[in-house]
Amino acid sequence: MIPGFDWLGRQALFALDPETAHGLSITALRCGIPVALPPRPSSRLAVTVAGLTFPNPLGMAAGYDKNAEVPDALLRLGFGFAEVGTVTPLPQSGNPRPRIFRLSRDGAVINRLGFNNEGHDACLARLERRAGKPGIVGVNIGANKDSADRMADYEAGVRRFAPLASYLTVNISSPNTPGLRDMQTKAALSELLDRVLAARTALARGAATPIFLKIAPDLDEAGLDDVAGAVSASGVDGLIVSNTTIARPKLQSTAHAAETGGLSGRPLFARSTAALARMRKRLGPALPIIGVGGVDSAETALEKIRAGADLVQLYTGMIYEGPSMPGRILRDLGRLAEREALTSIGALRDSRLDHWASQPLG
Ligand SMILES: Cc1cc2nc3c(=O)[nH]c(=O)nc-3n(C[C@H](O)[C@H](O)[C@H](O)COP(=O)(O)O)c2cc1C
Repeated sequence: MIPGFDWLGRQALFALDPETAHGLSITALRCGIPVALPPRPSSRLAVTVAGLTFPNPLGMAAGYDKNAEVPDALLRLGFGFAEVGTVTPLPQSGNPRPRIFRLSRDGAVINRLGFNNEGHDACLARLERRAGKPGIVGVNIGANKDSADRMADYEAGVRRFAPLASYLTVNISSPNTPGLRDMQTKAALSELLDRVLAARTALARGAATPIFLKIAPDLDEAGLDDVAGAVSASGVDGLIVSNTTIARPKLQSTAHAAETGGLSGRPLFARSTAALARMRKRLGPALPIIGVGGVDSAETALEKIRAGADLVQLYTGMIYEGPSMPGRILRDLGRLAEREALTSIGALRDSRLDHWASQPLG
């Protein structure tokens, strides 16, 4: 059930086009409008991943706060971490509007934003203003559409943000920048990871900042093998599975279902969870994995953990359920951990790994 405030907010926001509604929600958070009561998550939800201690495993995925305007407001909603970006070296306007579409009957969204963002300088200035504040804020870095050397854009992202970010995410899996996903092929990915890790090693400040790689849910078995090989050989600190899909699983919505772009939300859950479990199988128990795609409840968050995730992120679910959603998920996860007398929710990781690893990718 969506509580009254969320329901009213949703009625108002859904009367607007999705991008305007998104802008308004950012403004509300930036102005400190109390959109949800801050939850008090159970200490049983705390997890340590890649050397960072997360108060709970639920994070806001990249793409909501592209320009680092509201990371602290997101943390106040209850999220255990917030990932800002994708940010590219130079500002860029992205694809022409309209470029976000709601598929309400499916709890889904199709977007083809194309890395619209204000660029490194603006994002860095905002993060510098919050430097020293508590809370885990990751920065998701990308490449400009017209860049002559896209790998150099990622190196620049590492140099600029590693000193300030809790972690970095190398995003090569957006479907909306032509050619970007080609960097997931074995040779290109190995070169990219070598270059970003070397850029980090060369830093005086930030040489220990964890670097995660975010992949698409549209890789086949051979593609997943390639990524796993490159990740294992590189020394990258973790994986995020997954970005949006270019596939169109059976959808109930007829309006917008054929729009070009990446599909997120409920119809992405099974595919992204099957890909997550396959990567956990390939990479073994030690490598941190963040599961994302279609999480909209404590049950779906928990299922990601059972399928092999250390941490979980969401975005589209909050569009439909409103800002009190993270608090509700954390309350329900906390109750479950207490009921099962788990010292940590992480004890459930991998408990449905075999099931999810055997589910079809398509
Ligand atoms: C409107 C929109 C914009 C997004 N922008 C980004 C982005 O800039 N960088 C990125 O790595 N992922 C981006 N994503 C993908 C999300 O981070 C997430 O991986 C995906 O939506 C699946 O999660 P969900 O089903 O909970 O939304 C975006 C998603 C949406 C819906």
